[in-house]
Amino acid sequence: MRVFLSYLILSISLLLSSVATTPFAFAQDKNTEIEKRVSVLLKEMSLEEKVGQMTQVAIKVVADTLRPHGGWQTLDAANLRKAIVDYHVGSILNVHNSAYTLENWHEIINQIQDVATKETRLRIPILYGIDAIHGANYTTGATLFPQSIGMAATWNPELFQKTAEITAYEMRASGIPWNFNPVLGAGRQPVWSRLWETYGEDAFLASAMARAYVKGLEGQNNSIGDKDKVAACIKHYLGYSFPLSGKDRTPAYIPERMLREHFLPVFKAGVDAGAYSLMVNSSEINGIPVHGSYYYLTELLRGELGFEGFIVSDWEDVIRLHKRHRVAATPKEAVRQAVMAGVDMSMVPFDYTFYDYLVELVKEGTVPESRIDEAVSRILTAKFKLGLFENPYPDKSLVSDFASDKFQKTALNAASESITLLQNTDNLLPLKKQSTILVTGPTANKLSTLNGGWTITWQGNDESLYPKEKDTILEAVQKKFGKENVSYAAGVSFSEEIDIHEAVKKAKEADVVLLCLGEDAYCEVPGTIPDLSMSPVQLKLAKAVAETGKPVVLVLAEGRPRLINAIAGEMEAILMAYLPGLEGGSAIADIIAGDVNPSGKLPITYPRYPNDLTLYDHKVNEVVKEIREASPYNPQFEFGIGLSYTNFTYSNLQLSKDKISQGDALEVRVHVKNTGDRAGKEVVQLYLSDLYASITPYAKRLKGFQKIELEPGESKQVTFILNESDFAFIGLANKPVVEPGEFKVSVGGMSRNFILE
Ligand code: BGC
Repeated sequence: MRVFLSYLILSISLLLSSVATTPFAFAQDKNTEIEKRVSVLLKEMSLEEKVGQMTQVAIKVVADTLRPHGGWQTLDAANLRKAIVDYHVGSILNVHNSAYTLENWHEIINQIQDVATKETRLRIPILYGIDAIHGANYTTGATLFPQSIGMAATWNPELFQKTAEITAYEMRASGIPWNFNPVLGAGRQPVWSRLWETYGEDAFLASAMARAYVKGLEGQNNSIGDKDKVAACIKHYLGYSFPLSGKDRTPAYIPERMLREHFLPVFKAGVDAGAYSLMVNSSEINGIPVHGSYYYLTELLRGELGFEGFIVSDWEDVIRLHKRHRVAATPKEAVRQAVMAGVDMSMVPFDYTFYDYLVELVKEGTVPESRIDEAVSRILTAKFKLGLFENPYPDKSLVSDFASDKFQKTALNAASESITLLQNTDNLLPLKKQSTILVTGPTANKLSTLNGGWTITWQGNDESLYPKEKDTILEAVQKKFGKENVSYAAGVSFSEEIDIHEAVKKAKEADVVLLCLGEDAYCEVPGTIPDLSMSPVQLKLAKAVAETGKPVVLVLAEGRPRLINAIAGEMEAILMAYLPGLEGGSAIADIIAGDVNPSGKLPITYPRYPNDLTLYDHKVNEVVKEIREASPYNPQFEFGIGLSYTNFTYSNLQLSKDKISQGDALEVRVHVKNTGDRAGKEVVQLYLSDLYASITPYAKRLKGFQKIELEPGESKQVTFILNESDFAFIGLANKPVVEPGEFKVSVGGMSRNFILE
């Protein structure tokens, strides 16, 4: 009865607050209406109810944990009530063990929302969050796209936006409105086990992909209340992607100028795109754990970047200020530091210590209640905007298009556009249709190695849970070239020899060898490696099949560039597949057979040596004359490259002016012609070099790109506009500056200089 009465009072006050607004203003200003609803609700809430909203637990806390992998997940009703009714928990995340079916998700979300909206005093719905990082990868049967590094290799933000729209749709079809993605750390540390969750090393390309993805999830106008849109969570702010040691969750050392050149802009793009939430870096920058930093979380993020959404901690990271970083002498002090730094919600995730400590801290007066109100307002705002107060339940009508043919086709297109042809001696590829092929190597006949981490399970490596109807590389190549023309020998696993002799014998009987190497699925800390080299036993297989004299096509299915210098010269063709998702096998077969013309371009530098990890946008003065005369940049494969089965000829690079003044824009035009004999897509890339500057200049930086499609013989003029911000760099005072002087514009192997007065 008490519950009902307070709900009635609240409903009347909410009604009054909206009646006070005219219908016109109501339509005009939904934000004001939500602000009012939030403030009315906040006034009703007890301290405990508020702190509960800031508390997020993993589903394991409320689940029946005896469920086997792949089985039906049920919830533990008593633990669910304890979390939601007793502790007022506002958010739940994740899966326990592995992906659930749509029906299972519906049951789980219904049960959770029933407790939240029928059994609690204020009936506040739960915000459920999930890592749907390459499609709704925790819902059985979902459409799965290439992982982020592959999507960056498409250099096609429009296509990426479509994949994000489908991800949002399939999440909402599952009843989940909040996605812990995109990862906006710049991928500048190739050893890091999460490189493949990034959009690569360049801030300009990564920012374009970040915008496309956030808009895809949230909608062009960030209308996350639409039934097929979800809230994005840009992560892991800031500096997480650049651990000095390369090991996951270890310290980064990033001077402010470097931070502002390479790392901050990508988050700025995510903030400007309207992302509703942000997750924090588990580690530290220059000795400062980001979870405890008022500077990073409040001054820089809110004050300077203008972020208005809510901040969620990463997994257990509030308490880790005490347990791991040791900047807080007690767990309670860790809670105080994180909340006062700006963390609005704690991904606790397994107990109620955060809740207990925070209630105590407020009662003692150590944390002002105004800070709690601020955090809770932001969380409630997101819940209102998501439409959860109107309908917290899964919309079953969305099941109709879940994993539909058209969605799968987009996934196939995305995989096809991501795959990058790095080497093609004597145009070995595409193979003749009647070729006989040996398929070998540890990534040849697995789906897990095409998908990587966060697929069905956290590590993505449980092959038995993958959909049987999807093709591995071997199966897709067999379908394409005929089973009778394709033989198979595993050869090796990632770490052990299986039977190299068998592979050699079968290689001798075939016209060509398709050698599939790379990495087993992994993510986060378990994916940490001490050596970027391709595993020795894989190199041994490569050498053995190459020695047969048969041409070898190397396919790399990997999340980071494992070094192949020892074998690259012996491979006729090399295809970088990254982690192309569930349609990856088919996409690779299409490219090998020439049914698709490859158009992916590397979004990272592929290093040649373990101790030379120089990136494309290095400083000019990184040339060491004693070693190499011309260039400090001598990787296996350069950033931005990718071959095609046709030829693109660039000509007539023109600038609108030879001299411009501060504030002027510059137009750059170039002619691109398909001079080969098949249609193809080309990524036209514009790089800018500031020749002399008060801070040592970069060799070049990407400032524009366009992906175009040309029929044989067709040509197009491509136009870029460079604005003042493109000429800027982070100057002595750690602020963007534009200095007069000479600049060089390079496109497609040509360049033109201009003067900025
Ligand atoms: C990861 C996050 C992820 C979170 C929730 C953490 O371990 O670092 O990226 O969103 O778990 O699954």
